[in-house]
Amino acid sequence: MVDDHGNNKVIDEGKQGEALVLDDHSEGSKKLYVESYGCAMNFSDSEVVASIMAKEGYSTTRNSEEADVILINTCSIRDNAEMRVRKRLTEFRKQKKAQPKLVVGVLGCMAERLKQSLLEEEKLVDLVAGPDAYRELPGMIDEVNGGQKAVNVLLSREETYGDISPIRLDEGGISGFVSITRGCDNMCSFCVVPFTRGRERSRDPHTIVQECTDIFNRGYREVTLLGQNVDSYRWNMSSKGVIKDETQSTTDFAELMEMVAQIHPDLRIRFSTSHPKDLTDKVLEVMAKYDNICPYIHLPVQSGHSDVLQRMNRGYSREWYLDRIAAIRRILPNCGISTDIIVGFCGETEEEHQATLSLQNEVQFDFAYMYKYSERPKTLAERKFEDDVTEELKSRRLDEIIANQLRHSLANNLRQIGEVHKVLIEGVSKKSEDDLMGRDERNTKVVFPKGTAKKGDYVWVKIKECTSATLIGEQVEEPAKLVVS
Ligand code: 5AD
Ligand code: SF4
Repeated sequence: MVDDHGNNKVIDEGKQGEALVLDDHSEGSKKLYVESYGCAMNFSDSEVVASIMAKEGYSTTRNSEEADVILINTCSIRDNAEMRVRKRLTEFRKQKKAQPKLVVGVLGCMAERLKQSLLEEEKLVDLVAGPDAYRELPGMIDEVNGGQKAVNVLLSREETYGDISPIRLDEGGISGFVSITRGCDNMCSFCVVPFTRGRERSRDPHTIVQECTDIFNRGYREVTLLGQNVDSYRWNMSSKGVIKDETQSTTDFAELMEMVAQIHPDLRIRFSTSHPKDLTDKVLEVMAKYDNICPYIHLPVQSGHSDVLQRMNRGYSREWYLDRIAAIRRILPNCGISTDIIVGFCGETEEEHQATLSLQNEVQFDFAYMYKYSERPKTLAERKFEDDVTEELKSRRLDEIIANQLRHSLANNLRQIGEVHKVLIEGVSKKSEDDLMGRDERNTKVVFPKGTAKKGDYVWVKIKECTSATLIGEQVEEPAKLVVS
């Protein structure tokens, strides 16, 4: 299975699976190599970093061997994500021994979490910059070149990089990420994000619309609006458009999405991630109103038992979650739904685990990202509860929910056979040069034989067969719209 952006292998490693390396871009005198781990937000941040560095004469390279500066944008969400980065840093330290002028820096969540210790105790890197410190990178690199170590992990209540137009490194790209909020105020008890990315703040809607328009004009046909909790997006502004003030007009997520949807009917809109406690009917109604807002919602449930949800501090019960699913089915009958599930959270009993399986059966998710609980330092759960479900039990429970999910994914895909889906072509299929690959509106991967259509085109595909992860079909004419007289 592949994540919603087609990047990483899923199941236990989830969205934090593989590294993404920024592509070669333009001829600058100095070379920057950026490797990103973790969520789409990190990847999007790396493009902001590339933009900041480009102003200083750096061009990006895919080859770390020729770099003057290596930056690793890191993830702390689970312990195994951090272990992978540490291994990479050890490799770069070896490269630095042979190339003493090389600057190696850590960005993102591990930078924020581990701060000085990466520089001092572990001596792994020269530079540590937290998620809100990227504007300072050029100066920090100068400090390192002057023989100092550089660290800036200050978190901000204001920084959204709203005015920075990220450099899109995948020339000829089709699908881009645009961040709309940063940070998170939710404090789910298992989650390290509020500690590493700070308080939630929303970005000026006009800069968001500007960025989406810009990438559409450059040939992109899909944007994913990104935030830790997109439903809590809220921008207040005075008549001057700069001062945030509760009494002045506000823009909420539904209104923002409507502004983006109006850019062009050929620009598809997706978003990630929704929070079940905040997903409103207003958002669902805007989705129903615009053909170019994809009927697909990623709605992490985490557990199917209300007591576990309470220990997780999620702010909703099983019943509330099922009510939100019912609202989606009512307002958007053809909506794709995916989720995140954590097994083996502190104190999880067999009965609580069974409740997750039964919720899966009730909802019949199209996809799920499934993880074993991994205790993170400083979180509420680490301070309040014991990580008392054994590794063996976590593995068994994970296997059970994965098997259940594969059944549901296959059953949902089988139901699509005979249907005609609108597909945005992303490129040639990885498995066969003779096939193209794209996604339908519900975010399912669709593969079909090459015709005259090309990357970036919308085509109609009649589904003939499927696996649990992919629909397979052939291109057909656009179906005639039903005209009701
Ligand atoms: N252990 C396991 N999974 C976690 N997630 C977040 N924190 C943890 C943790 N400590 C999962 C949640 C979240 C997804 C991005 O990562 O399911 O929705
Ligand atoms: Fe973490 Fe919860 Fe915020 Fe998501 S909503 S980033 S799980 S604290």
